[in-house]
Amino acid sequence: MTTAAAQTASPPAGGPAAPTTPAAPAALSLMLAEVEEGLRAFLAGQAHRRPGGRLKGAGPAEAVAELVGAGGKRLRPRFLLSGYLAAGGEPGRDPVRAAMALELLHAAALIHDDVMDDADRRRSRPTVHARHADVHRANGWFGESRRYGESVAILAGDLAWAYADHLMAGLPAAVAAHWFELKAELIEGQALDVAAAAELLPDPELARYIAVVKSGRYTIHRPLVLGALLAGRTDLTGAFEQYGEALGEAFQLRDDLIDAFGDGRASGKPAAQDFGHGKMTLLLSLAMRSDPAIRTLVERGESGMLRERLSGSAVHADVEARIAHLVARADAALTAAELPPRWRAELRAAARAAAYRTS
Ligand code: IPE
Ligand code: IPE
Ligand code: MG
Ligand code: MG
Ligand code: MG
Repeated sequence: MTTAAAQTASPPAGGPAAPTTPAAPAALSLMLAEVEEGLRAFLAGQAHRRPGGRLKGAGPAEAVAELVGAGGKRLRPRFLLSGYLAAGGEPGRDPVRAAMALELLHAAALIHDDVMDDADRRRSRPTVHARHADVHRANGWFGESRRYGESVAILAGDLAWAYADHLMAGLPAAVAAHWFELKAELIEGQALDVAAAAELLPDPELARYIAVVKSGRYTIHRPLVLGALLAGRTDLTGAFEQYGEALGEAFQLRDDLIDAFGDGRASGKPAAQDFGHGKMTLLLSLAMRSDPAIRTLVERGESGMLRERLSGSAVHADVEARIAHLVARADAALTAAELPPRWRAELRAAARAAAYRTS
């Protein structure tokens, strides 16, 4: 592909300006409420793992509880439960536990991602490593504050990961196999993200692959398939894969645009960080390919200038066009799928909410 526009169809019917999630079907709302209550109760039950005693430092269990308690869009539980209910599943304990597991795995990914990306804000609060480094500094404790903060974050991420595995234990073999794939792939995707940035390799095909593997699959495709498998509907996995691959890429391309041009107050995380870290997003890969001066700006850490130069540029338009094309592909997968009409409508609306959000 030369530019993303080359593969772009017209924007999806209904237009791009539909960022709100519509009222979910009642069963979905009820089960999402059970996930919230389940997470609260589970994390409260783990509070005994906080260090307490004579040590003043907060522990990993507290850090996980704070991050999960700070909210977020809860997209992964929503997609798992939508997949489950759309596949005809009845409200029950297993899908709620699996949805909780996905949110805790996401928490693990975020905590470690913020160390790797040197990010100081998440969900409008200090990140785990930044907060604990500050506590170390403020108390004048022995050793390096940064290393202390990152140590707490490594442990908190590992703990959230262990929680997630605990909640998924005992589910059917097909679900367990898919769960393993989801986790291994997320790590593979994050490793490619880090390597492509280190090597400053502007390859649009690779950038799109990274978007799907580090983010799209664990956010949309695999949660939906897990839901279908929990409902015993293997016939839906192909349609959910097509929808999820397309929308998953669109979701991450939007995340990249929010980083590049969005408002950090709305997203709750730092703005324009990807430029500074040489993240080989589709946007920056296309920009570096089309204009040699962009590499120099990246190497000099001129994030502000990159933001100004690329906002509204042809490559920015190319990424928007690619998102529209992907949403249209997700719609097409739904049209072809054996789904009840109200779930097709719910997933169409969910696609727009994921692809056209501001935070
Ligand atoms: C952020 O995910 C990390 C990515 C995979 C891009 P979300 O945008 O879903 O973050 P929260 O859960 O709403 O905070
Ligand atoms: C991270 O992608 C994906 C995972 C957390 C696995 P980003 O690094 O772009 O996510 P944000 O922008 O920090 O949320
Ligand atoms: Mg990252
Ligand atoms: Mg990040
Ligand atoms: Mg990002």
